[in-house]
Amino acid sequence: MERRVALIVLVSMIYLTGCDEQGASGRQPAEPYTSFFTPLPEAAVFPDDNAFSEEKRVLGEFLFWDPILSGRMNVSCATCHHPDHGWADGRPFSVGVDGAGLGPTRSGTQETPFHSPTVLNVAFTGLRETQPQPGFVSGGYFWDLRAATLEDQAIDPIKSEVEMRSSDFLEEEILPEIVSRLALIPEYQALFSAAFEEPDPIIERNIGQALATYQRTLVTAPTRFDSFLAGDETALTAGEITGLNKFINSGCTECHSGPMLADNLIDATRQVQRNKLPVRTPTLRNVELTPPYMHDGSRSTLRGAISVYEDRNDLDVTLEEGDFGDIERFLRTLTDADFPRQVPAYVPSNLPVGGDIL
Ligand code: HEC
Ligand code: HEC
Repeated sequence: MERRVALIVLVSMIYLTGCDEQGASGRQPAEPYTSFFTPLPEAAVFPDDNAFSEEKRVLGEFLFWDPILSGRMNVSCATCHHPDHGWADGRPFSVGVDGAGLGPTRSGTQETPFHSPTVLNVAFTGLRETQPQPGFVSGGYFWDLRAATLEDQAIDPIKSEVEMRSSDFLEEEILPEIVSRLALIPEYQALFSAAFEEPDPIIERNIGQALATYQRTLVTAPTRFDSFLAGDETALTAGEITGLNKFINSGCTECHSGPMLADNLIDATRQVQRNKLPVRTPTLRNVELTPPYMHDGSRSTLRGAISVYEDRNDLDVTLEEGDFGDIERFLRTLTDADFPRQVPAYVPSNLPVGGDIL
């Protein structure tokens, strides 16, 4: 309750210093905003038990794009986390093993039960403070938070029958199968030996470590919003600042705050989509790039996602239709238009890069 009162006081201060449609003269210092939001840290944070090395990153990149990790050798991680779709897949639900193509037009019938989130900035998932404290390990992955670390998370899609495994293999068979496939490829032997010290480095744990290392490097650059937070008052337009103020005043920051604009927590008592699963708060960074929205992809546009919050006293959110456009304008300032897009020219298996996605 105390937090709520502090918020109201702070927000009235923002209004008093002027915000609505006043043009350049109405811009105010970014200082109060930094109590709600902070810029992303400049560099990814790597856990002590999986420190960064360029060798691990290179291996992880190949593994991410190589369909050899899937039962029928037709699906890679990039099939559902592709830079053309903001490192997600642009679909309400994903199609794995029985599909072909990329994004919304991908064929196939077997769908995942959840919508694919972006893997951009997963190095910072769960970060709520300005700077990571020593020992910070990013975490709480999946909409239901069932994977604690990125290393654990990476193994899950390989085992999933719908995503990568297929019915050709039993769950307990697939990782031994992948390991023996990789061990037959001289380039993978060399890559694993360069990245890991043990004599037989092609093991499940190292597959997870390499994939996690690569994904932690998929970090976006500072956006106009970050420049604004850093004190450049001209970085946002008056209209965008109006949206930012409405975002705070409406109560969105109760859950969407900090460097990721997400507490990454599940609030079972305040369910955003009525009669649906309680799920964790997702990041709003680069949200513009990853329609459709929500854990079930049920909102096809950003405007539609915002409209979920109209008249939501149950969430302590006050938002009216007239506010949607302003909030949307603000959320679009969270996009890094030059986000990482590099696609490897080949993968060591010589299978099609990314899987059957053309
Ligand atoms: C068939 C599509 C598909 C494939 C293939 C796939 N994913 Fe995903 N990914 C998803 C979906 C759907 C979710 C959300 C699932 C959930 O929350 O239960 C997800 C979630 C994630 C997350 C969690 C992100 C977060 O914010 O919590 C990460 C990280 C991730 N995937 C990485 C990978 C990696 C690494 C691979 C390859 C080993 C991979 N994915 C393969 C569809 C896919
Ligand atoms: C009680 C915590 C809470 C509050 C308050 C809240 N949100 Fe959310 N937000 C969530 C959760 C949880 C989800 C995911 C819901 C789902 O997938 O069904 C979400 C999803 C979203 C999404 C979709 C993101 C995506 O990638 O799918 C947008 C956009 C969004 N919120 C904006 C807002 C705005 C704007 C406000 C204020 C008007 C707000 N939120 C207030 C918790 C919250």
